[in-house]
Amino acid sequence: MSNLAIFASGTGSNAQKIIDRFRNHPHIHISLIVSNKPQAGVLQIAEREKINILIIDREQFFRGNGYTDELKTAGIDWIILAGFLWKIPEQLIAAFPNRIINIHPALLPKYGGKGMYGHFVHEAVIAAGEKESGITIHFVDEHFDHGKHIFQERCSIDATDTPETLAGKIQVLEHRYFPKVIEKLVCGEAIRF
Ligand code: GAR
Repeated sequence: MSNLAIFASGTGSNAQKIIDRFRNHPHIHISLIVSNKPQAGVLQIAEREKINILIIDREQFFRGNGYTDELKTAGIDWIILAGFLWKIPEQLIAAFPNRIINIHPALLPKYGGKGMYGHFVHEAVIAAGEKESGITIHFVDEHFDHGKHIFQERCSIDATDTPETLAGKIQVLEHRYFPKVIEKLVCGEAIRF
């Protein structure tokens, strides 16, 4: 059994989809929800789903070893970032080599980096007059939105699209693909759909 920790700072709609896919899964178990925000919606999901919660403190995350000991003690094998807004410390990356993955709501390497999250991404994409956007699922390295790509999917942008309608299109892609990509990656299968 592979144990996954989901890190999230917000509503947790992706976390919910991931939890739904792996409920009673033979090889994958969602063991822990980690958040930097005590009020985050994702924590209500964790409580409802009876999944353990870890609220992390900025000082301990960045000046300690990024909660490596707690995560190892909990038997965590993979870390899934689903709308988690803090940079991952190097010690945590070193403790989970190629085992931390992130989803970004744009076609990286464009529209990534510090401060590029949620609606800021969609506003920038629309303002630039892009004809398409999409999602990127990638390994996490020591730079924001930078590690090796695992999967991308695209959607078109129409003249009538706004940041809000684009966000809706992106969310459909995220919910459709993120859980499936995680499953294939963790189970060591080729990522083709
Ligand atoms: C998702 O769209 C995810 O791609 C984005 O945060 C949202 C979380 O939504 N992540 C980033 O922007 C990271 N740079 P959710 O809380 O509903 O799952």
